Amino acid sequence: MVTLRDDMTIKGMRFKNRLALPPLTTNYAGPEGLVTEANLQFYRERSRDVGLVIVEAAAVRRDGRIVPGSLGLWEDGQVPGMARLADTIKKSGAAAIVQINHAGARCIPGEGEMIGASPSGFAFRPDVTPFAMTPEQIEGMVSDFTAAAGRAADAGFDGVEIHGAHLYLISQFLSPLTNQRNDRYGGDARARTTFALEVVKAARERVGSDYPVLFRLNAVENVEGGQTKKDAVLVGKILADAGVDALDVSLISQGAWLEADGRQFLVPASAFPKEEPAGANAPLVSAIKEATGLPVIGVGKLGDGAAAAESVRNSQMDVVAIGRQMIADPDAAGKILAGKESDILLCEECMTCFGSLRKGVPLACKVNRNLPRP
Ligand SMILES: Cc1cc2nc3c(=O)[nH]c(=O)nc-3n(C[C@H](O)[C@H](O)[C@H](O)COP(=O)(O)O)c2cc1C
Ligand code: SF4
Repeated sequence: MVTLRDDMTIKGMRFKNRLALPPLTTNYAGPEGLVTEANLQFYRERSRDVGLVIVEAAAVRRDGRIVPGSLGLWEDGQVPGMARLADTIKKSGAAAIVQINHAGARCIPGEGEMIGASPSGFAFRPDVTPFAMTPEQIEGMVSDFTAAAGRAADAGFDGVEIHGAHLYLISQFLSPLTNQRNDRYGGDARARTTFALEVVKAARERVGSDYPVLFRLNAVENVEGGQTKKDAVLVGKILADAGVDALDVSLISQGAWLEADGRQFLVPASAFPKEEPAGANAPLVSAIKEATGLPVIGVGKLGDGAAAAESVRNSQMDVVAIGRQMIADPDAAGKILAGKESDILLCEECMTCFGSLRKGVPLACKVNRNLPRP
């Protein structure tokens, strides 16, 4: 029977237990995507007890940032700072992975050829005009992901995670809601996986066959016209065949349709609202694990020790990621492992953290008033 305290190895990357810090955008990086002391402090405090840390979305291009203070892996000058970050996490005792991302039409507005890049021009923000990418632009983007994966390895990270979830660029290609192309990048679920597959294959080529490559995907998109579980299972299988080493299974929990200047746009959410029970994502994660045979990381209100332990005990997932609860209390994972769940400073599921990012200010939390300040 597997317990949270058991160690695990993915492609030679060994980590000491089954708890992970999922990617959590902090908006702490400098204006050029450079690592700051606040970044180092945030991760140092959250790497002590978990086995695995997946560092927040690092942009593969300057014009692909989620927030102004997104980390960057778009140029070589960012590697030394990222090396300090990887080293800090590893010295604290966790394996260190970094997520690489282009936000596509969910990027912040600004200068850049790929501001608003998307498969078919679907809008997510009133201040970013989306456009459908040409095949040449898609090829260029594959190169940007590849170079960023190489920089992650050069910086000393133990692995890299390609962000294919939450309706950022790769996810926009995977979703039937946002990909209406009729070239080879669009069509049925298999065709919609083409861009993701090209990114995975090119990244693999760059980092070599021994280096862990993970992929984050949506198990389901709970918005009208969004990706189904059946599609997600197929995507997982295709990626498994392409040599992805583990799947980090998230979802779109809900979406709000808003309107500005007569134009509709979607604001998707990646975290469950208060009314959903702990571990509501577990059956979806388990279905993907079963279908692909790959190790899976599951997430979604698993910050109470009981739901986390149960998910690995019954093999629904191999690794349990704890997001908001680790923002609210950086010692939550340690308290779970020590059987001291009652000492956890509970996340109130108020969504203040997401609100701070939407406002473009550094990560804030209603419960934790001691978050680092950049
Ligand atoms: C403030 C904040 C920032 C996030 N940033 C990212 C991110 O950079 N990349 C990503 O894949 N998911 C991101 N997420 C989603 C989390 O990784 C996680 O999937 C989500 O919070 C659900 O887990 P939880 O219920 O344990 O919080 C973010 C979540 C929060 C709360
Ligand atoms: S801001 Fe609210 S939802 Fe976010 S981590 Fe803190 S308590 Fe939890």
